This record gives sequence, C-alpha cells and structure tokens, in this order.
Amino acid sequence: MQDDVAKILITSDDLRQRTLELARQIEADYQDRDLVLVCVLKGAIMFLVDLIKELQRPLEIDFMAVSSYGASTRSTGVVRLTKDLDMSIEGRHVLVVEDIIDSGRTLQYLTDVLNLRQPASLRICTLLDKRERREVDVPVDYVGFVIPNEFVIGYGLDFDEVYRNLPFVGVLKPEMYTGE
Ligand code: IMP
Ligand code: MG
Repeated sequence: MQDDVAKILITSDDLRQRTLELARQIEADYQDRDLVLVCVLKGAIMFLVDLIKELQRPLEIDFMAVSSYGASTRSTGVVRLTKDLDMSIEGRHVLVVEDIIDSGRTLQYLTDVLNLRQPASLRICTLLDKRERREVDVPVDYVGFVIPNEFVIGYGLDFDEVYRNLPFVGVLKPEMYTGE
C-alpha cells in the first residue's frame, strides 16, 4: 500500500497540529451555541474523530453519505444522497465536516439539501481544499490545508475505496489510476 504513494503531502504530525488549531477556532466561534457536526461519509471519518477529540465542549454528531465519484479520479458532476441524517437539524447550529473540496459540486448539493431544513446556521469545515479546481462557488468557513491539483489518498481519502487507513495524506502514483 505504501509503495503506491508517490510522496507524503501532509504528515500525521501536521494533521494533528492543524486539527488542534481548527478545534480551538471552532470552540471560540461557537461558544455556548449548541453544535451539531455533520460528517460526510466516508472520507471525513478520520478528520471527524480527531477533531471531536480536541473539541472540549458539548456537541452532537450525525452522518450523511453522498456519492459522486465511483472508481474515477475525476468528478462526474452528478451527486447522489446515499445516506441521510438521522436527526432533525431545524434550528440547530450545523457544521459540515468534509474531507476535501474539489469542484465544489458535492458541497453545493449538500448545502442546498441542508439549508432547506432551516438550521439556525450552516458552516463548512474541510480538511483539504483543492482550490484551483473549483467550478462552483461555495463558501467554506474552516480549511485545514489548501493543496495543489494532485489526487490524494489517506487519512480517510480513498482511491476506489482503498488507502483510507493510511495515517498521512499522500499523492497516489499516477500509474495506479492511468488506464481507467
Ligand atoms: P467535488 O464534488 O468535485 O468537490 O468532489 C468532492 C469529493 O470528491 C470529495 O468528498 C472526495 O470524496 C472526492 N475527491 C476529490 N478529490 C479527491 C482526491 O484527491 N482524493 C480522493 N478523493 C477526492
Ligand atoms: Mg471519495
């Protein structure tokens, strides 16, 4: 698995440090407002777990799943909700926790769906931002790292469902997905 990694982009130490900083910022911003974290499956699981361990305040978590990719490294632009929240978010302060924003289409779809449910507020926290690939403009409130236009894996992120358990964010060797 490690042999398929061209280079490590973000180390475990960097991830830990930045997650801590984001947690402090979120604590300060939400103070005593009630907070629901919505984790977007599956890519954001590692980030969610590490983030909530650092958040020293009451919070609730729920999960949503969307699919847009299949076994490709490019977005199809078609987003489908495959798992909905279990709880109502009406009147709640919602923070969406995402792994990566690429074209922005997944996030645009998600924010449209969630806003219809009338949360008290809706903000976005993403671990990674591939800013140069953005096709639709979606406001992002918390960003872990802005990364270049390379296909990354690890720390929750997959290629064809594999590599999510790597403890760092790495660039996949291009020969692993050429020929698709
Ligand atoms: P978007 O809709 O184009 O913004 O794509 C967002 C989704 O695509 C993310 O939630 C990821 O699941 C996936 N994705 C985008 N770029 C990468 C990458 O470099 N590695 C792994 N998954 C990615
Ligand atoms: Mg994915």
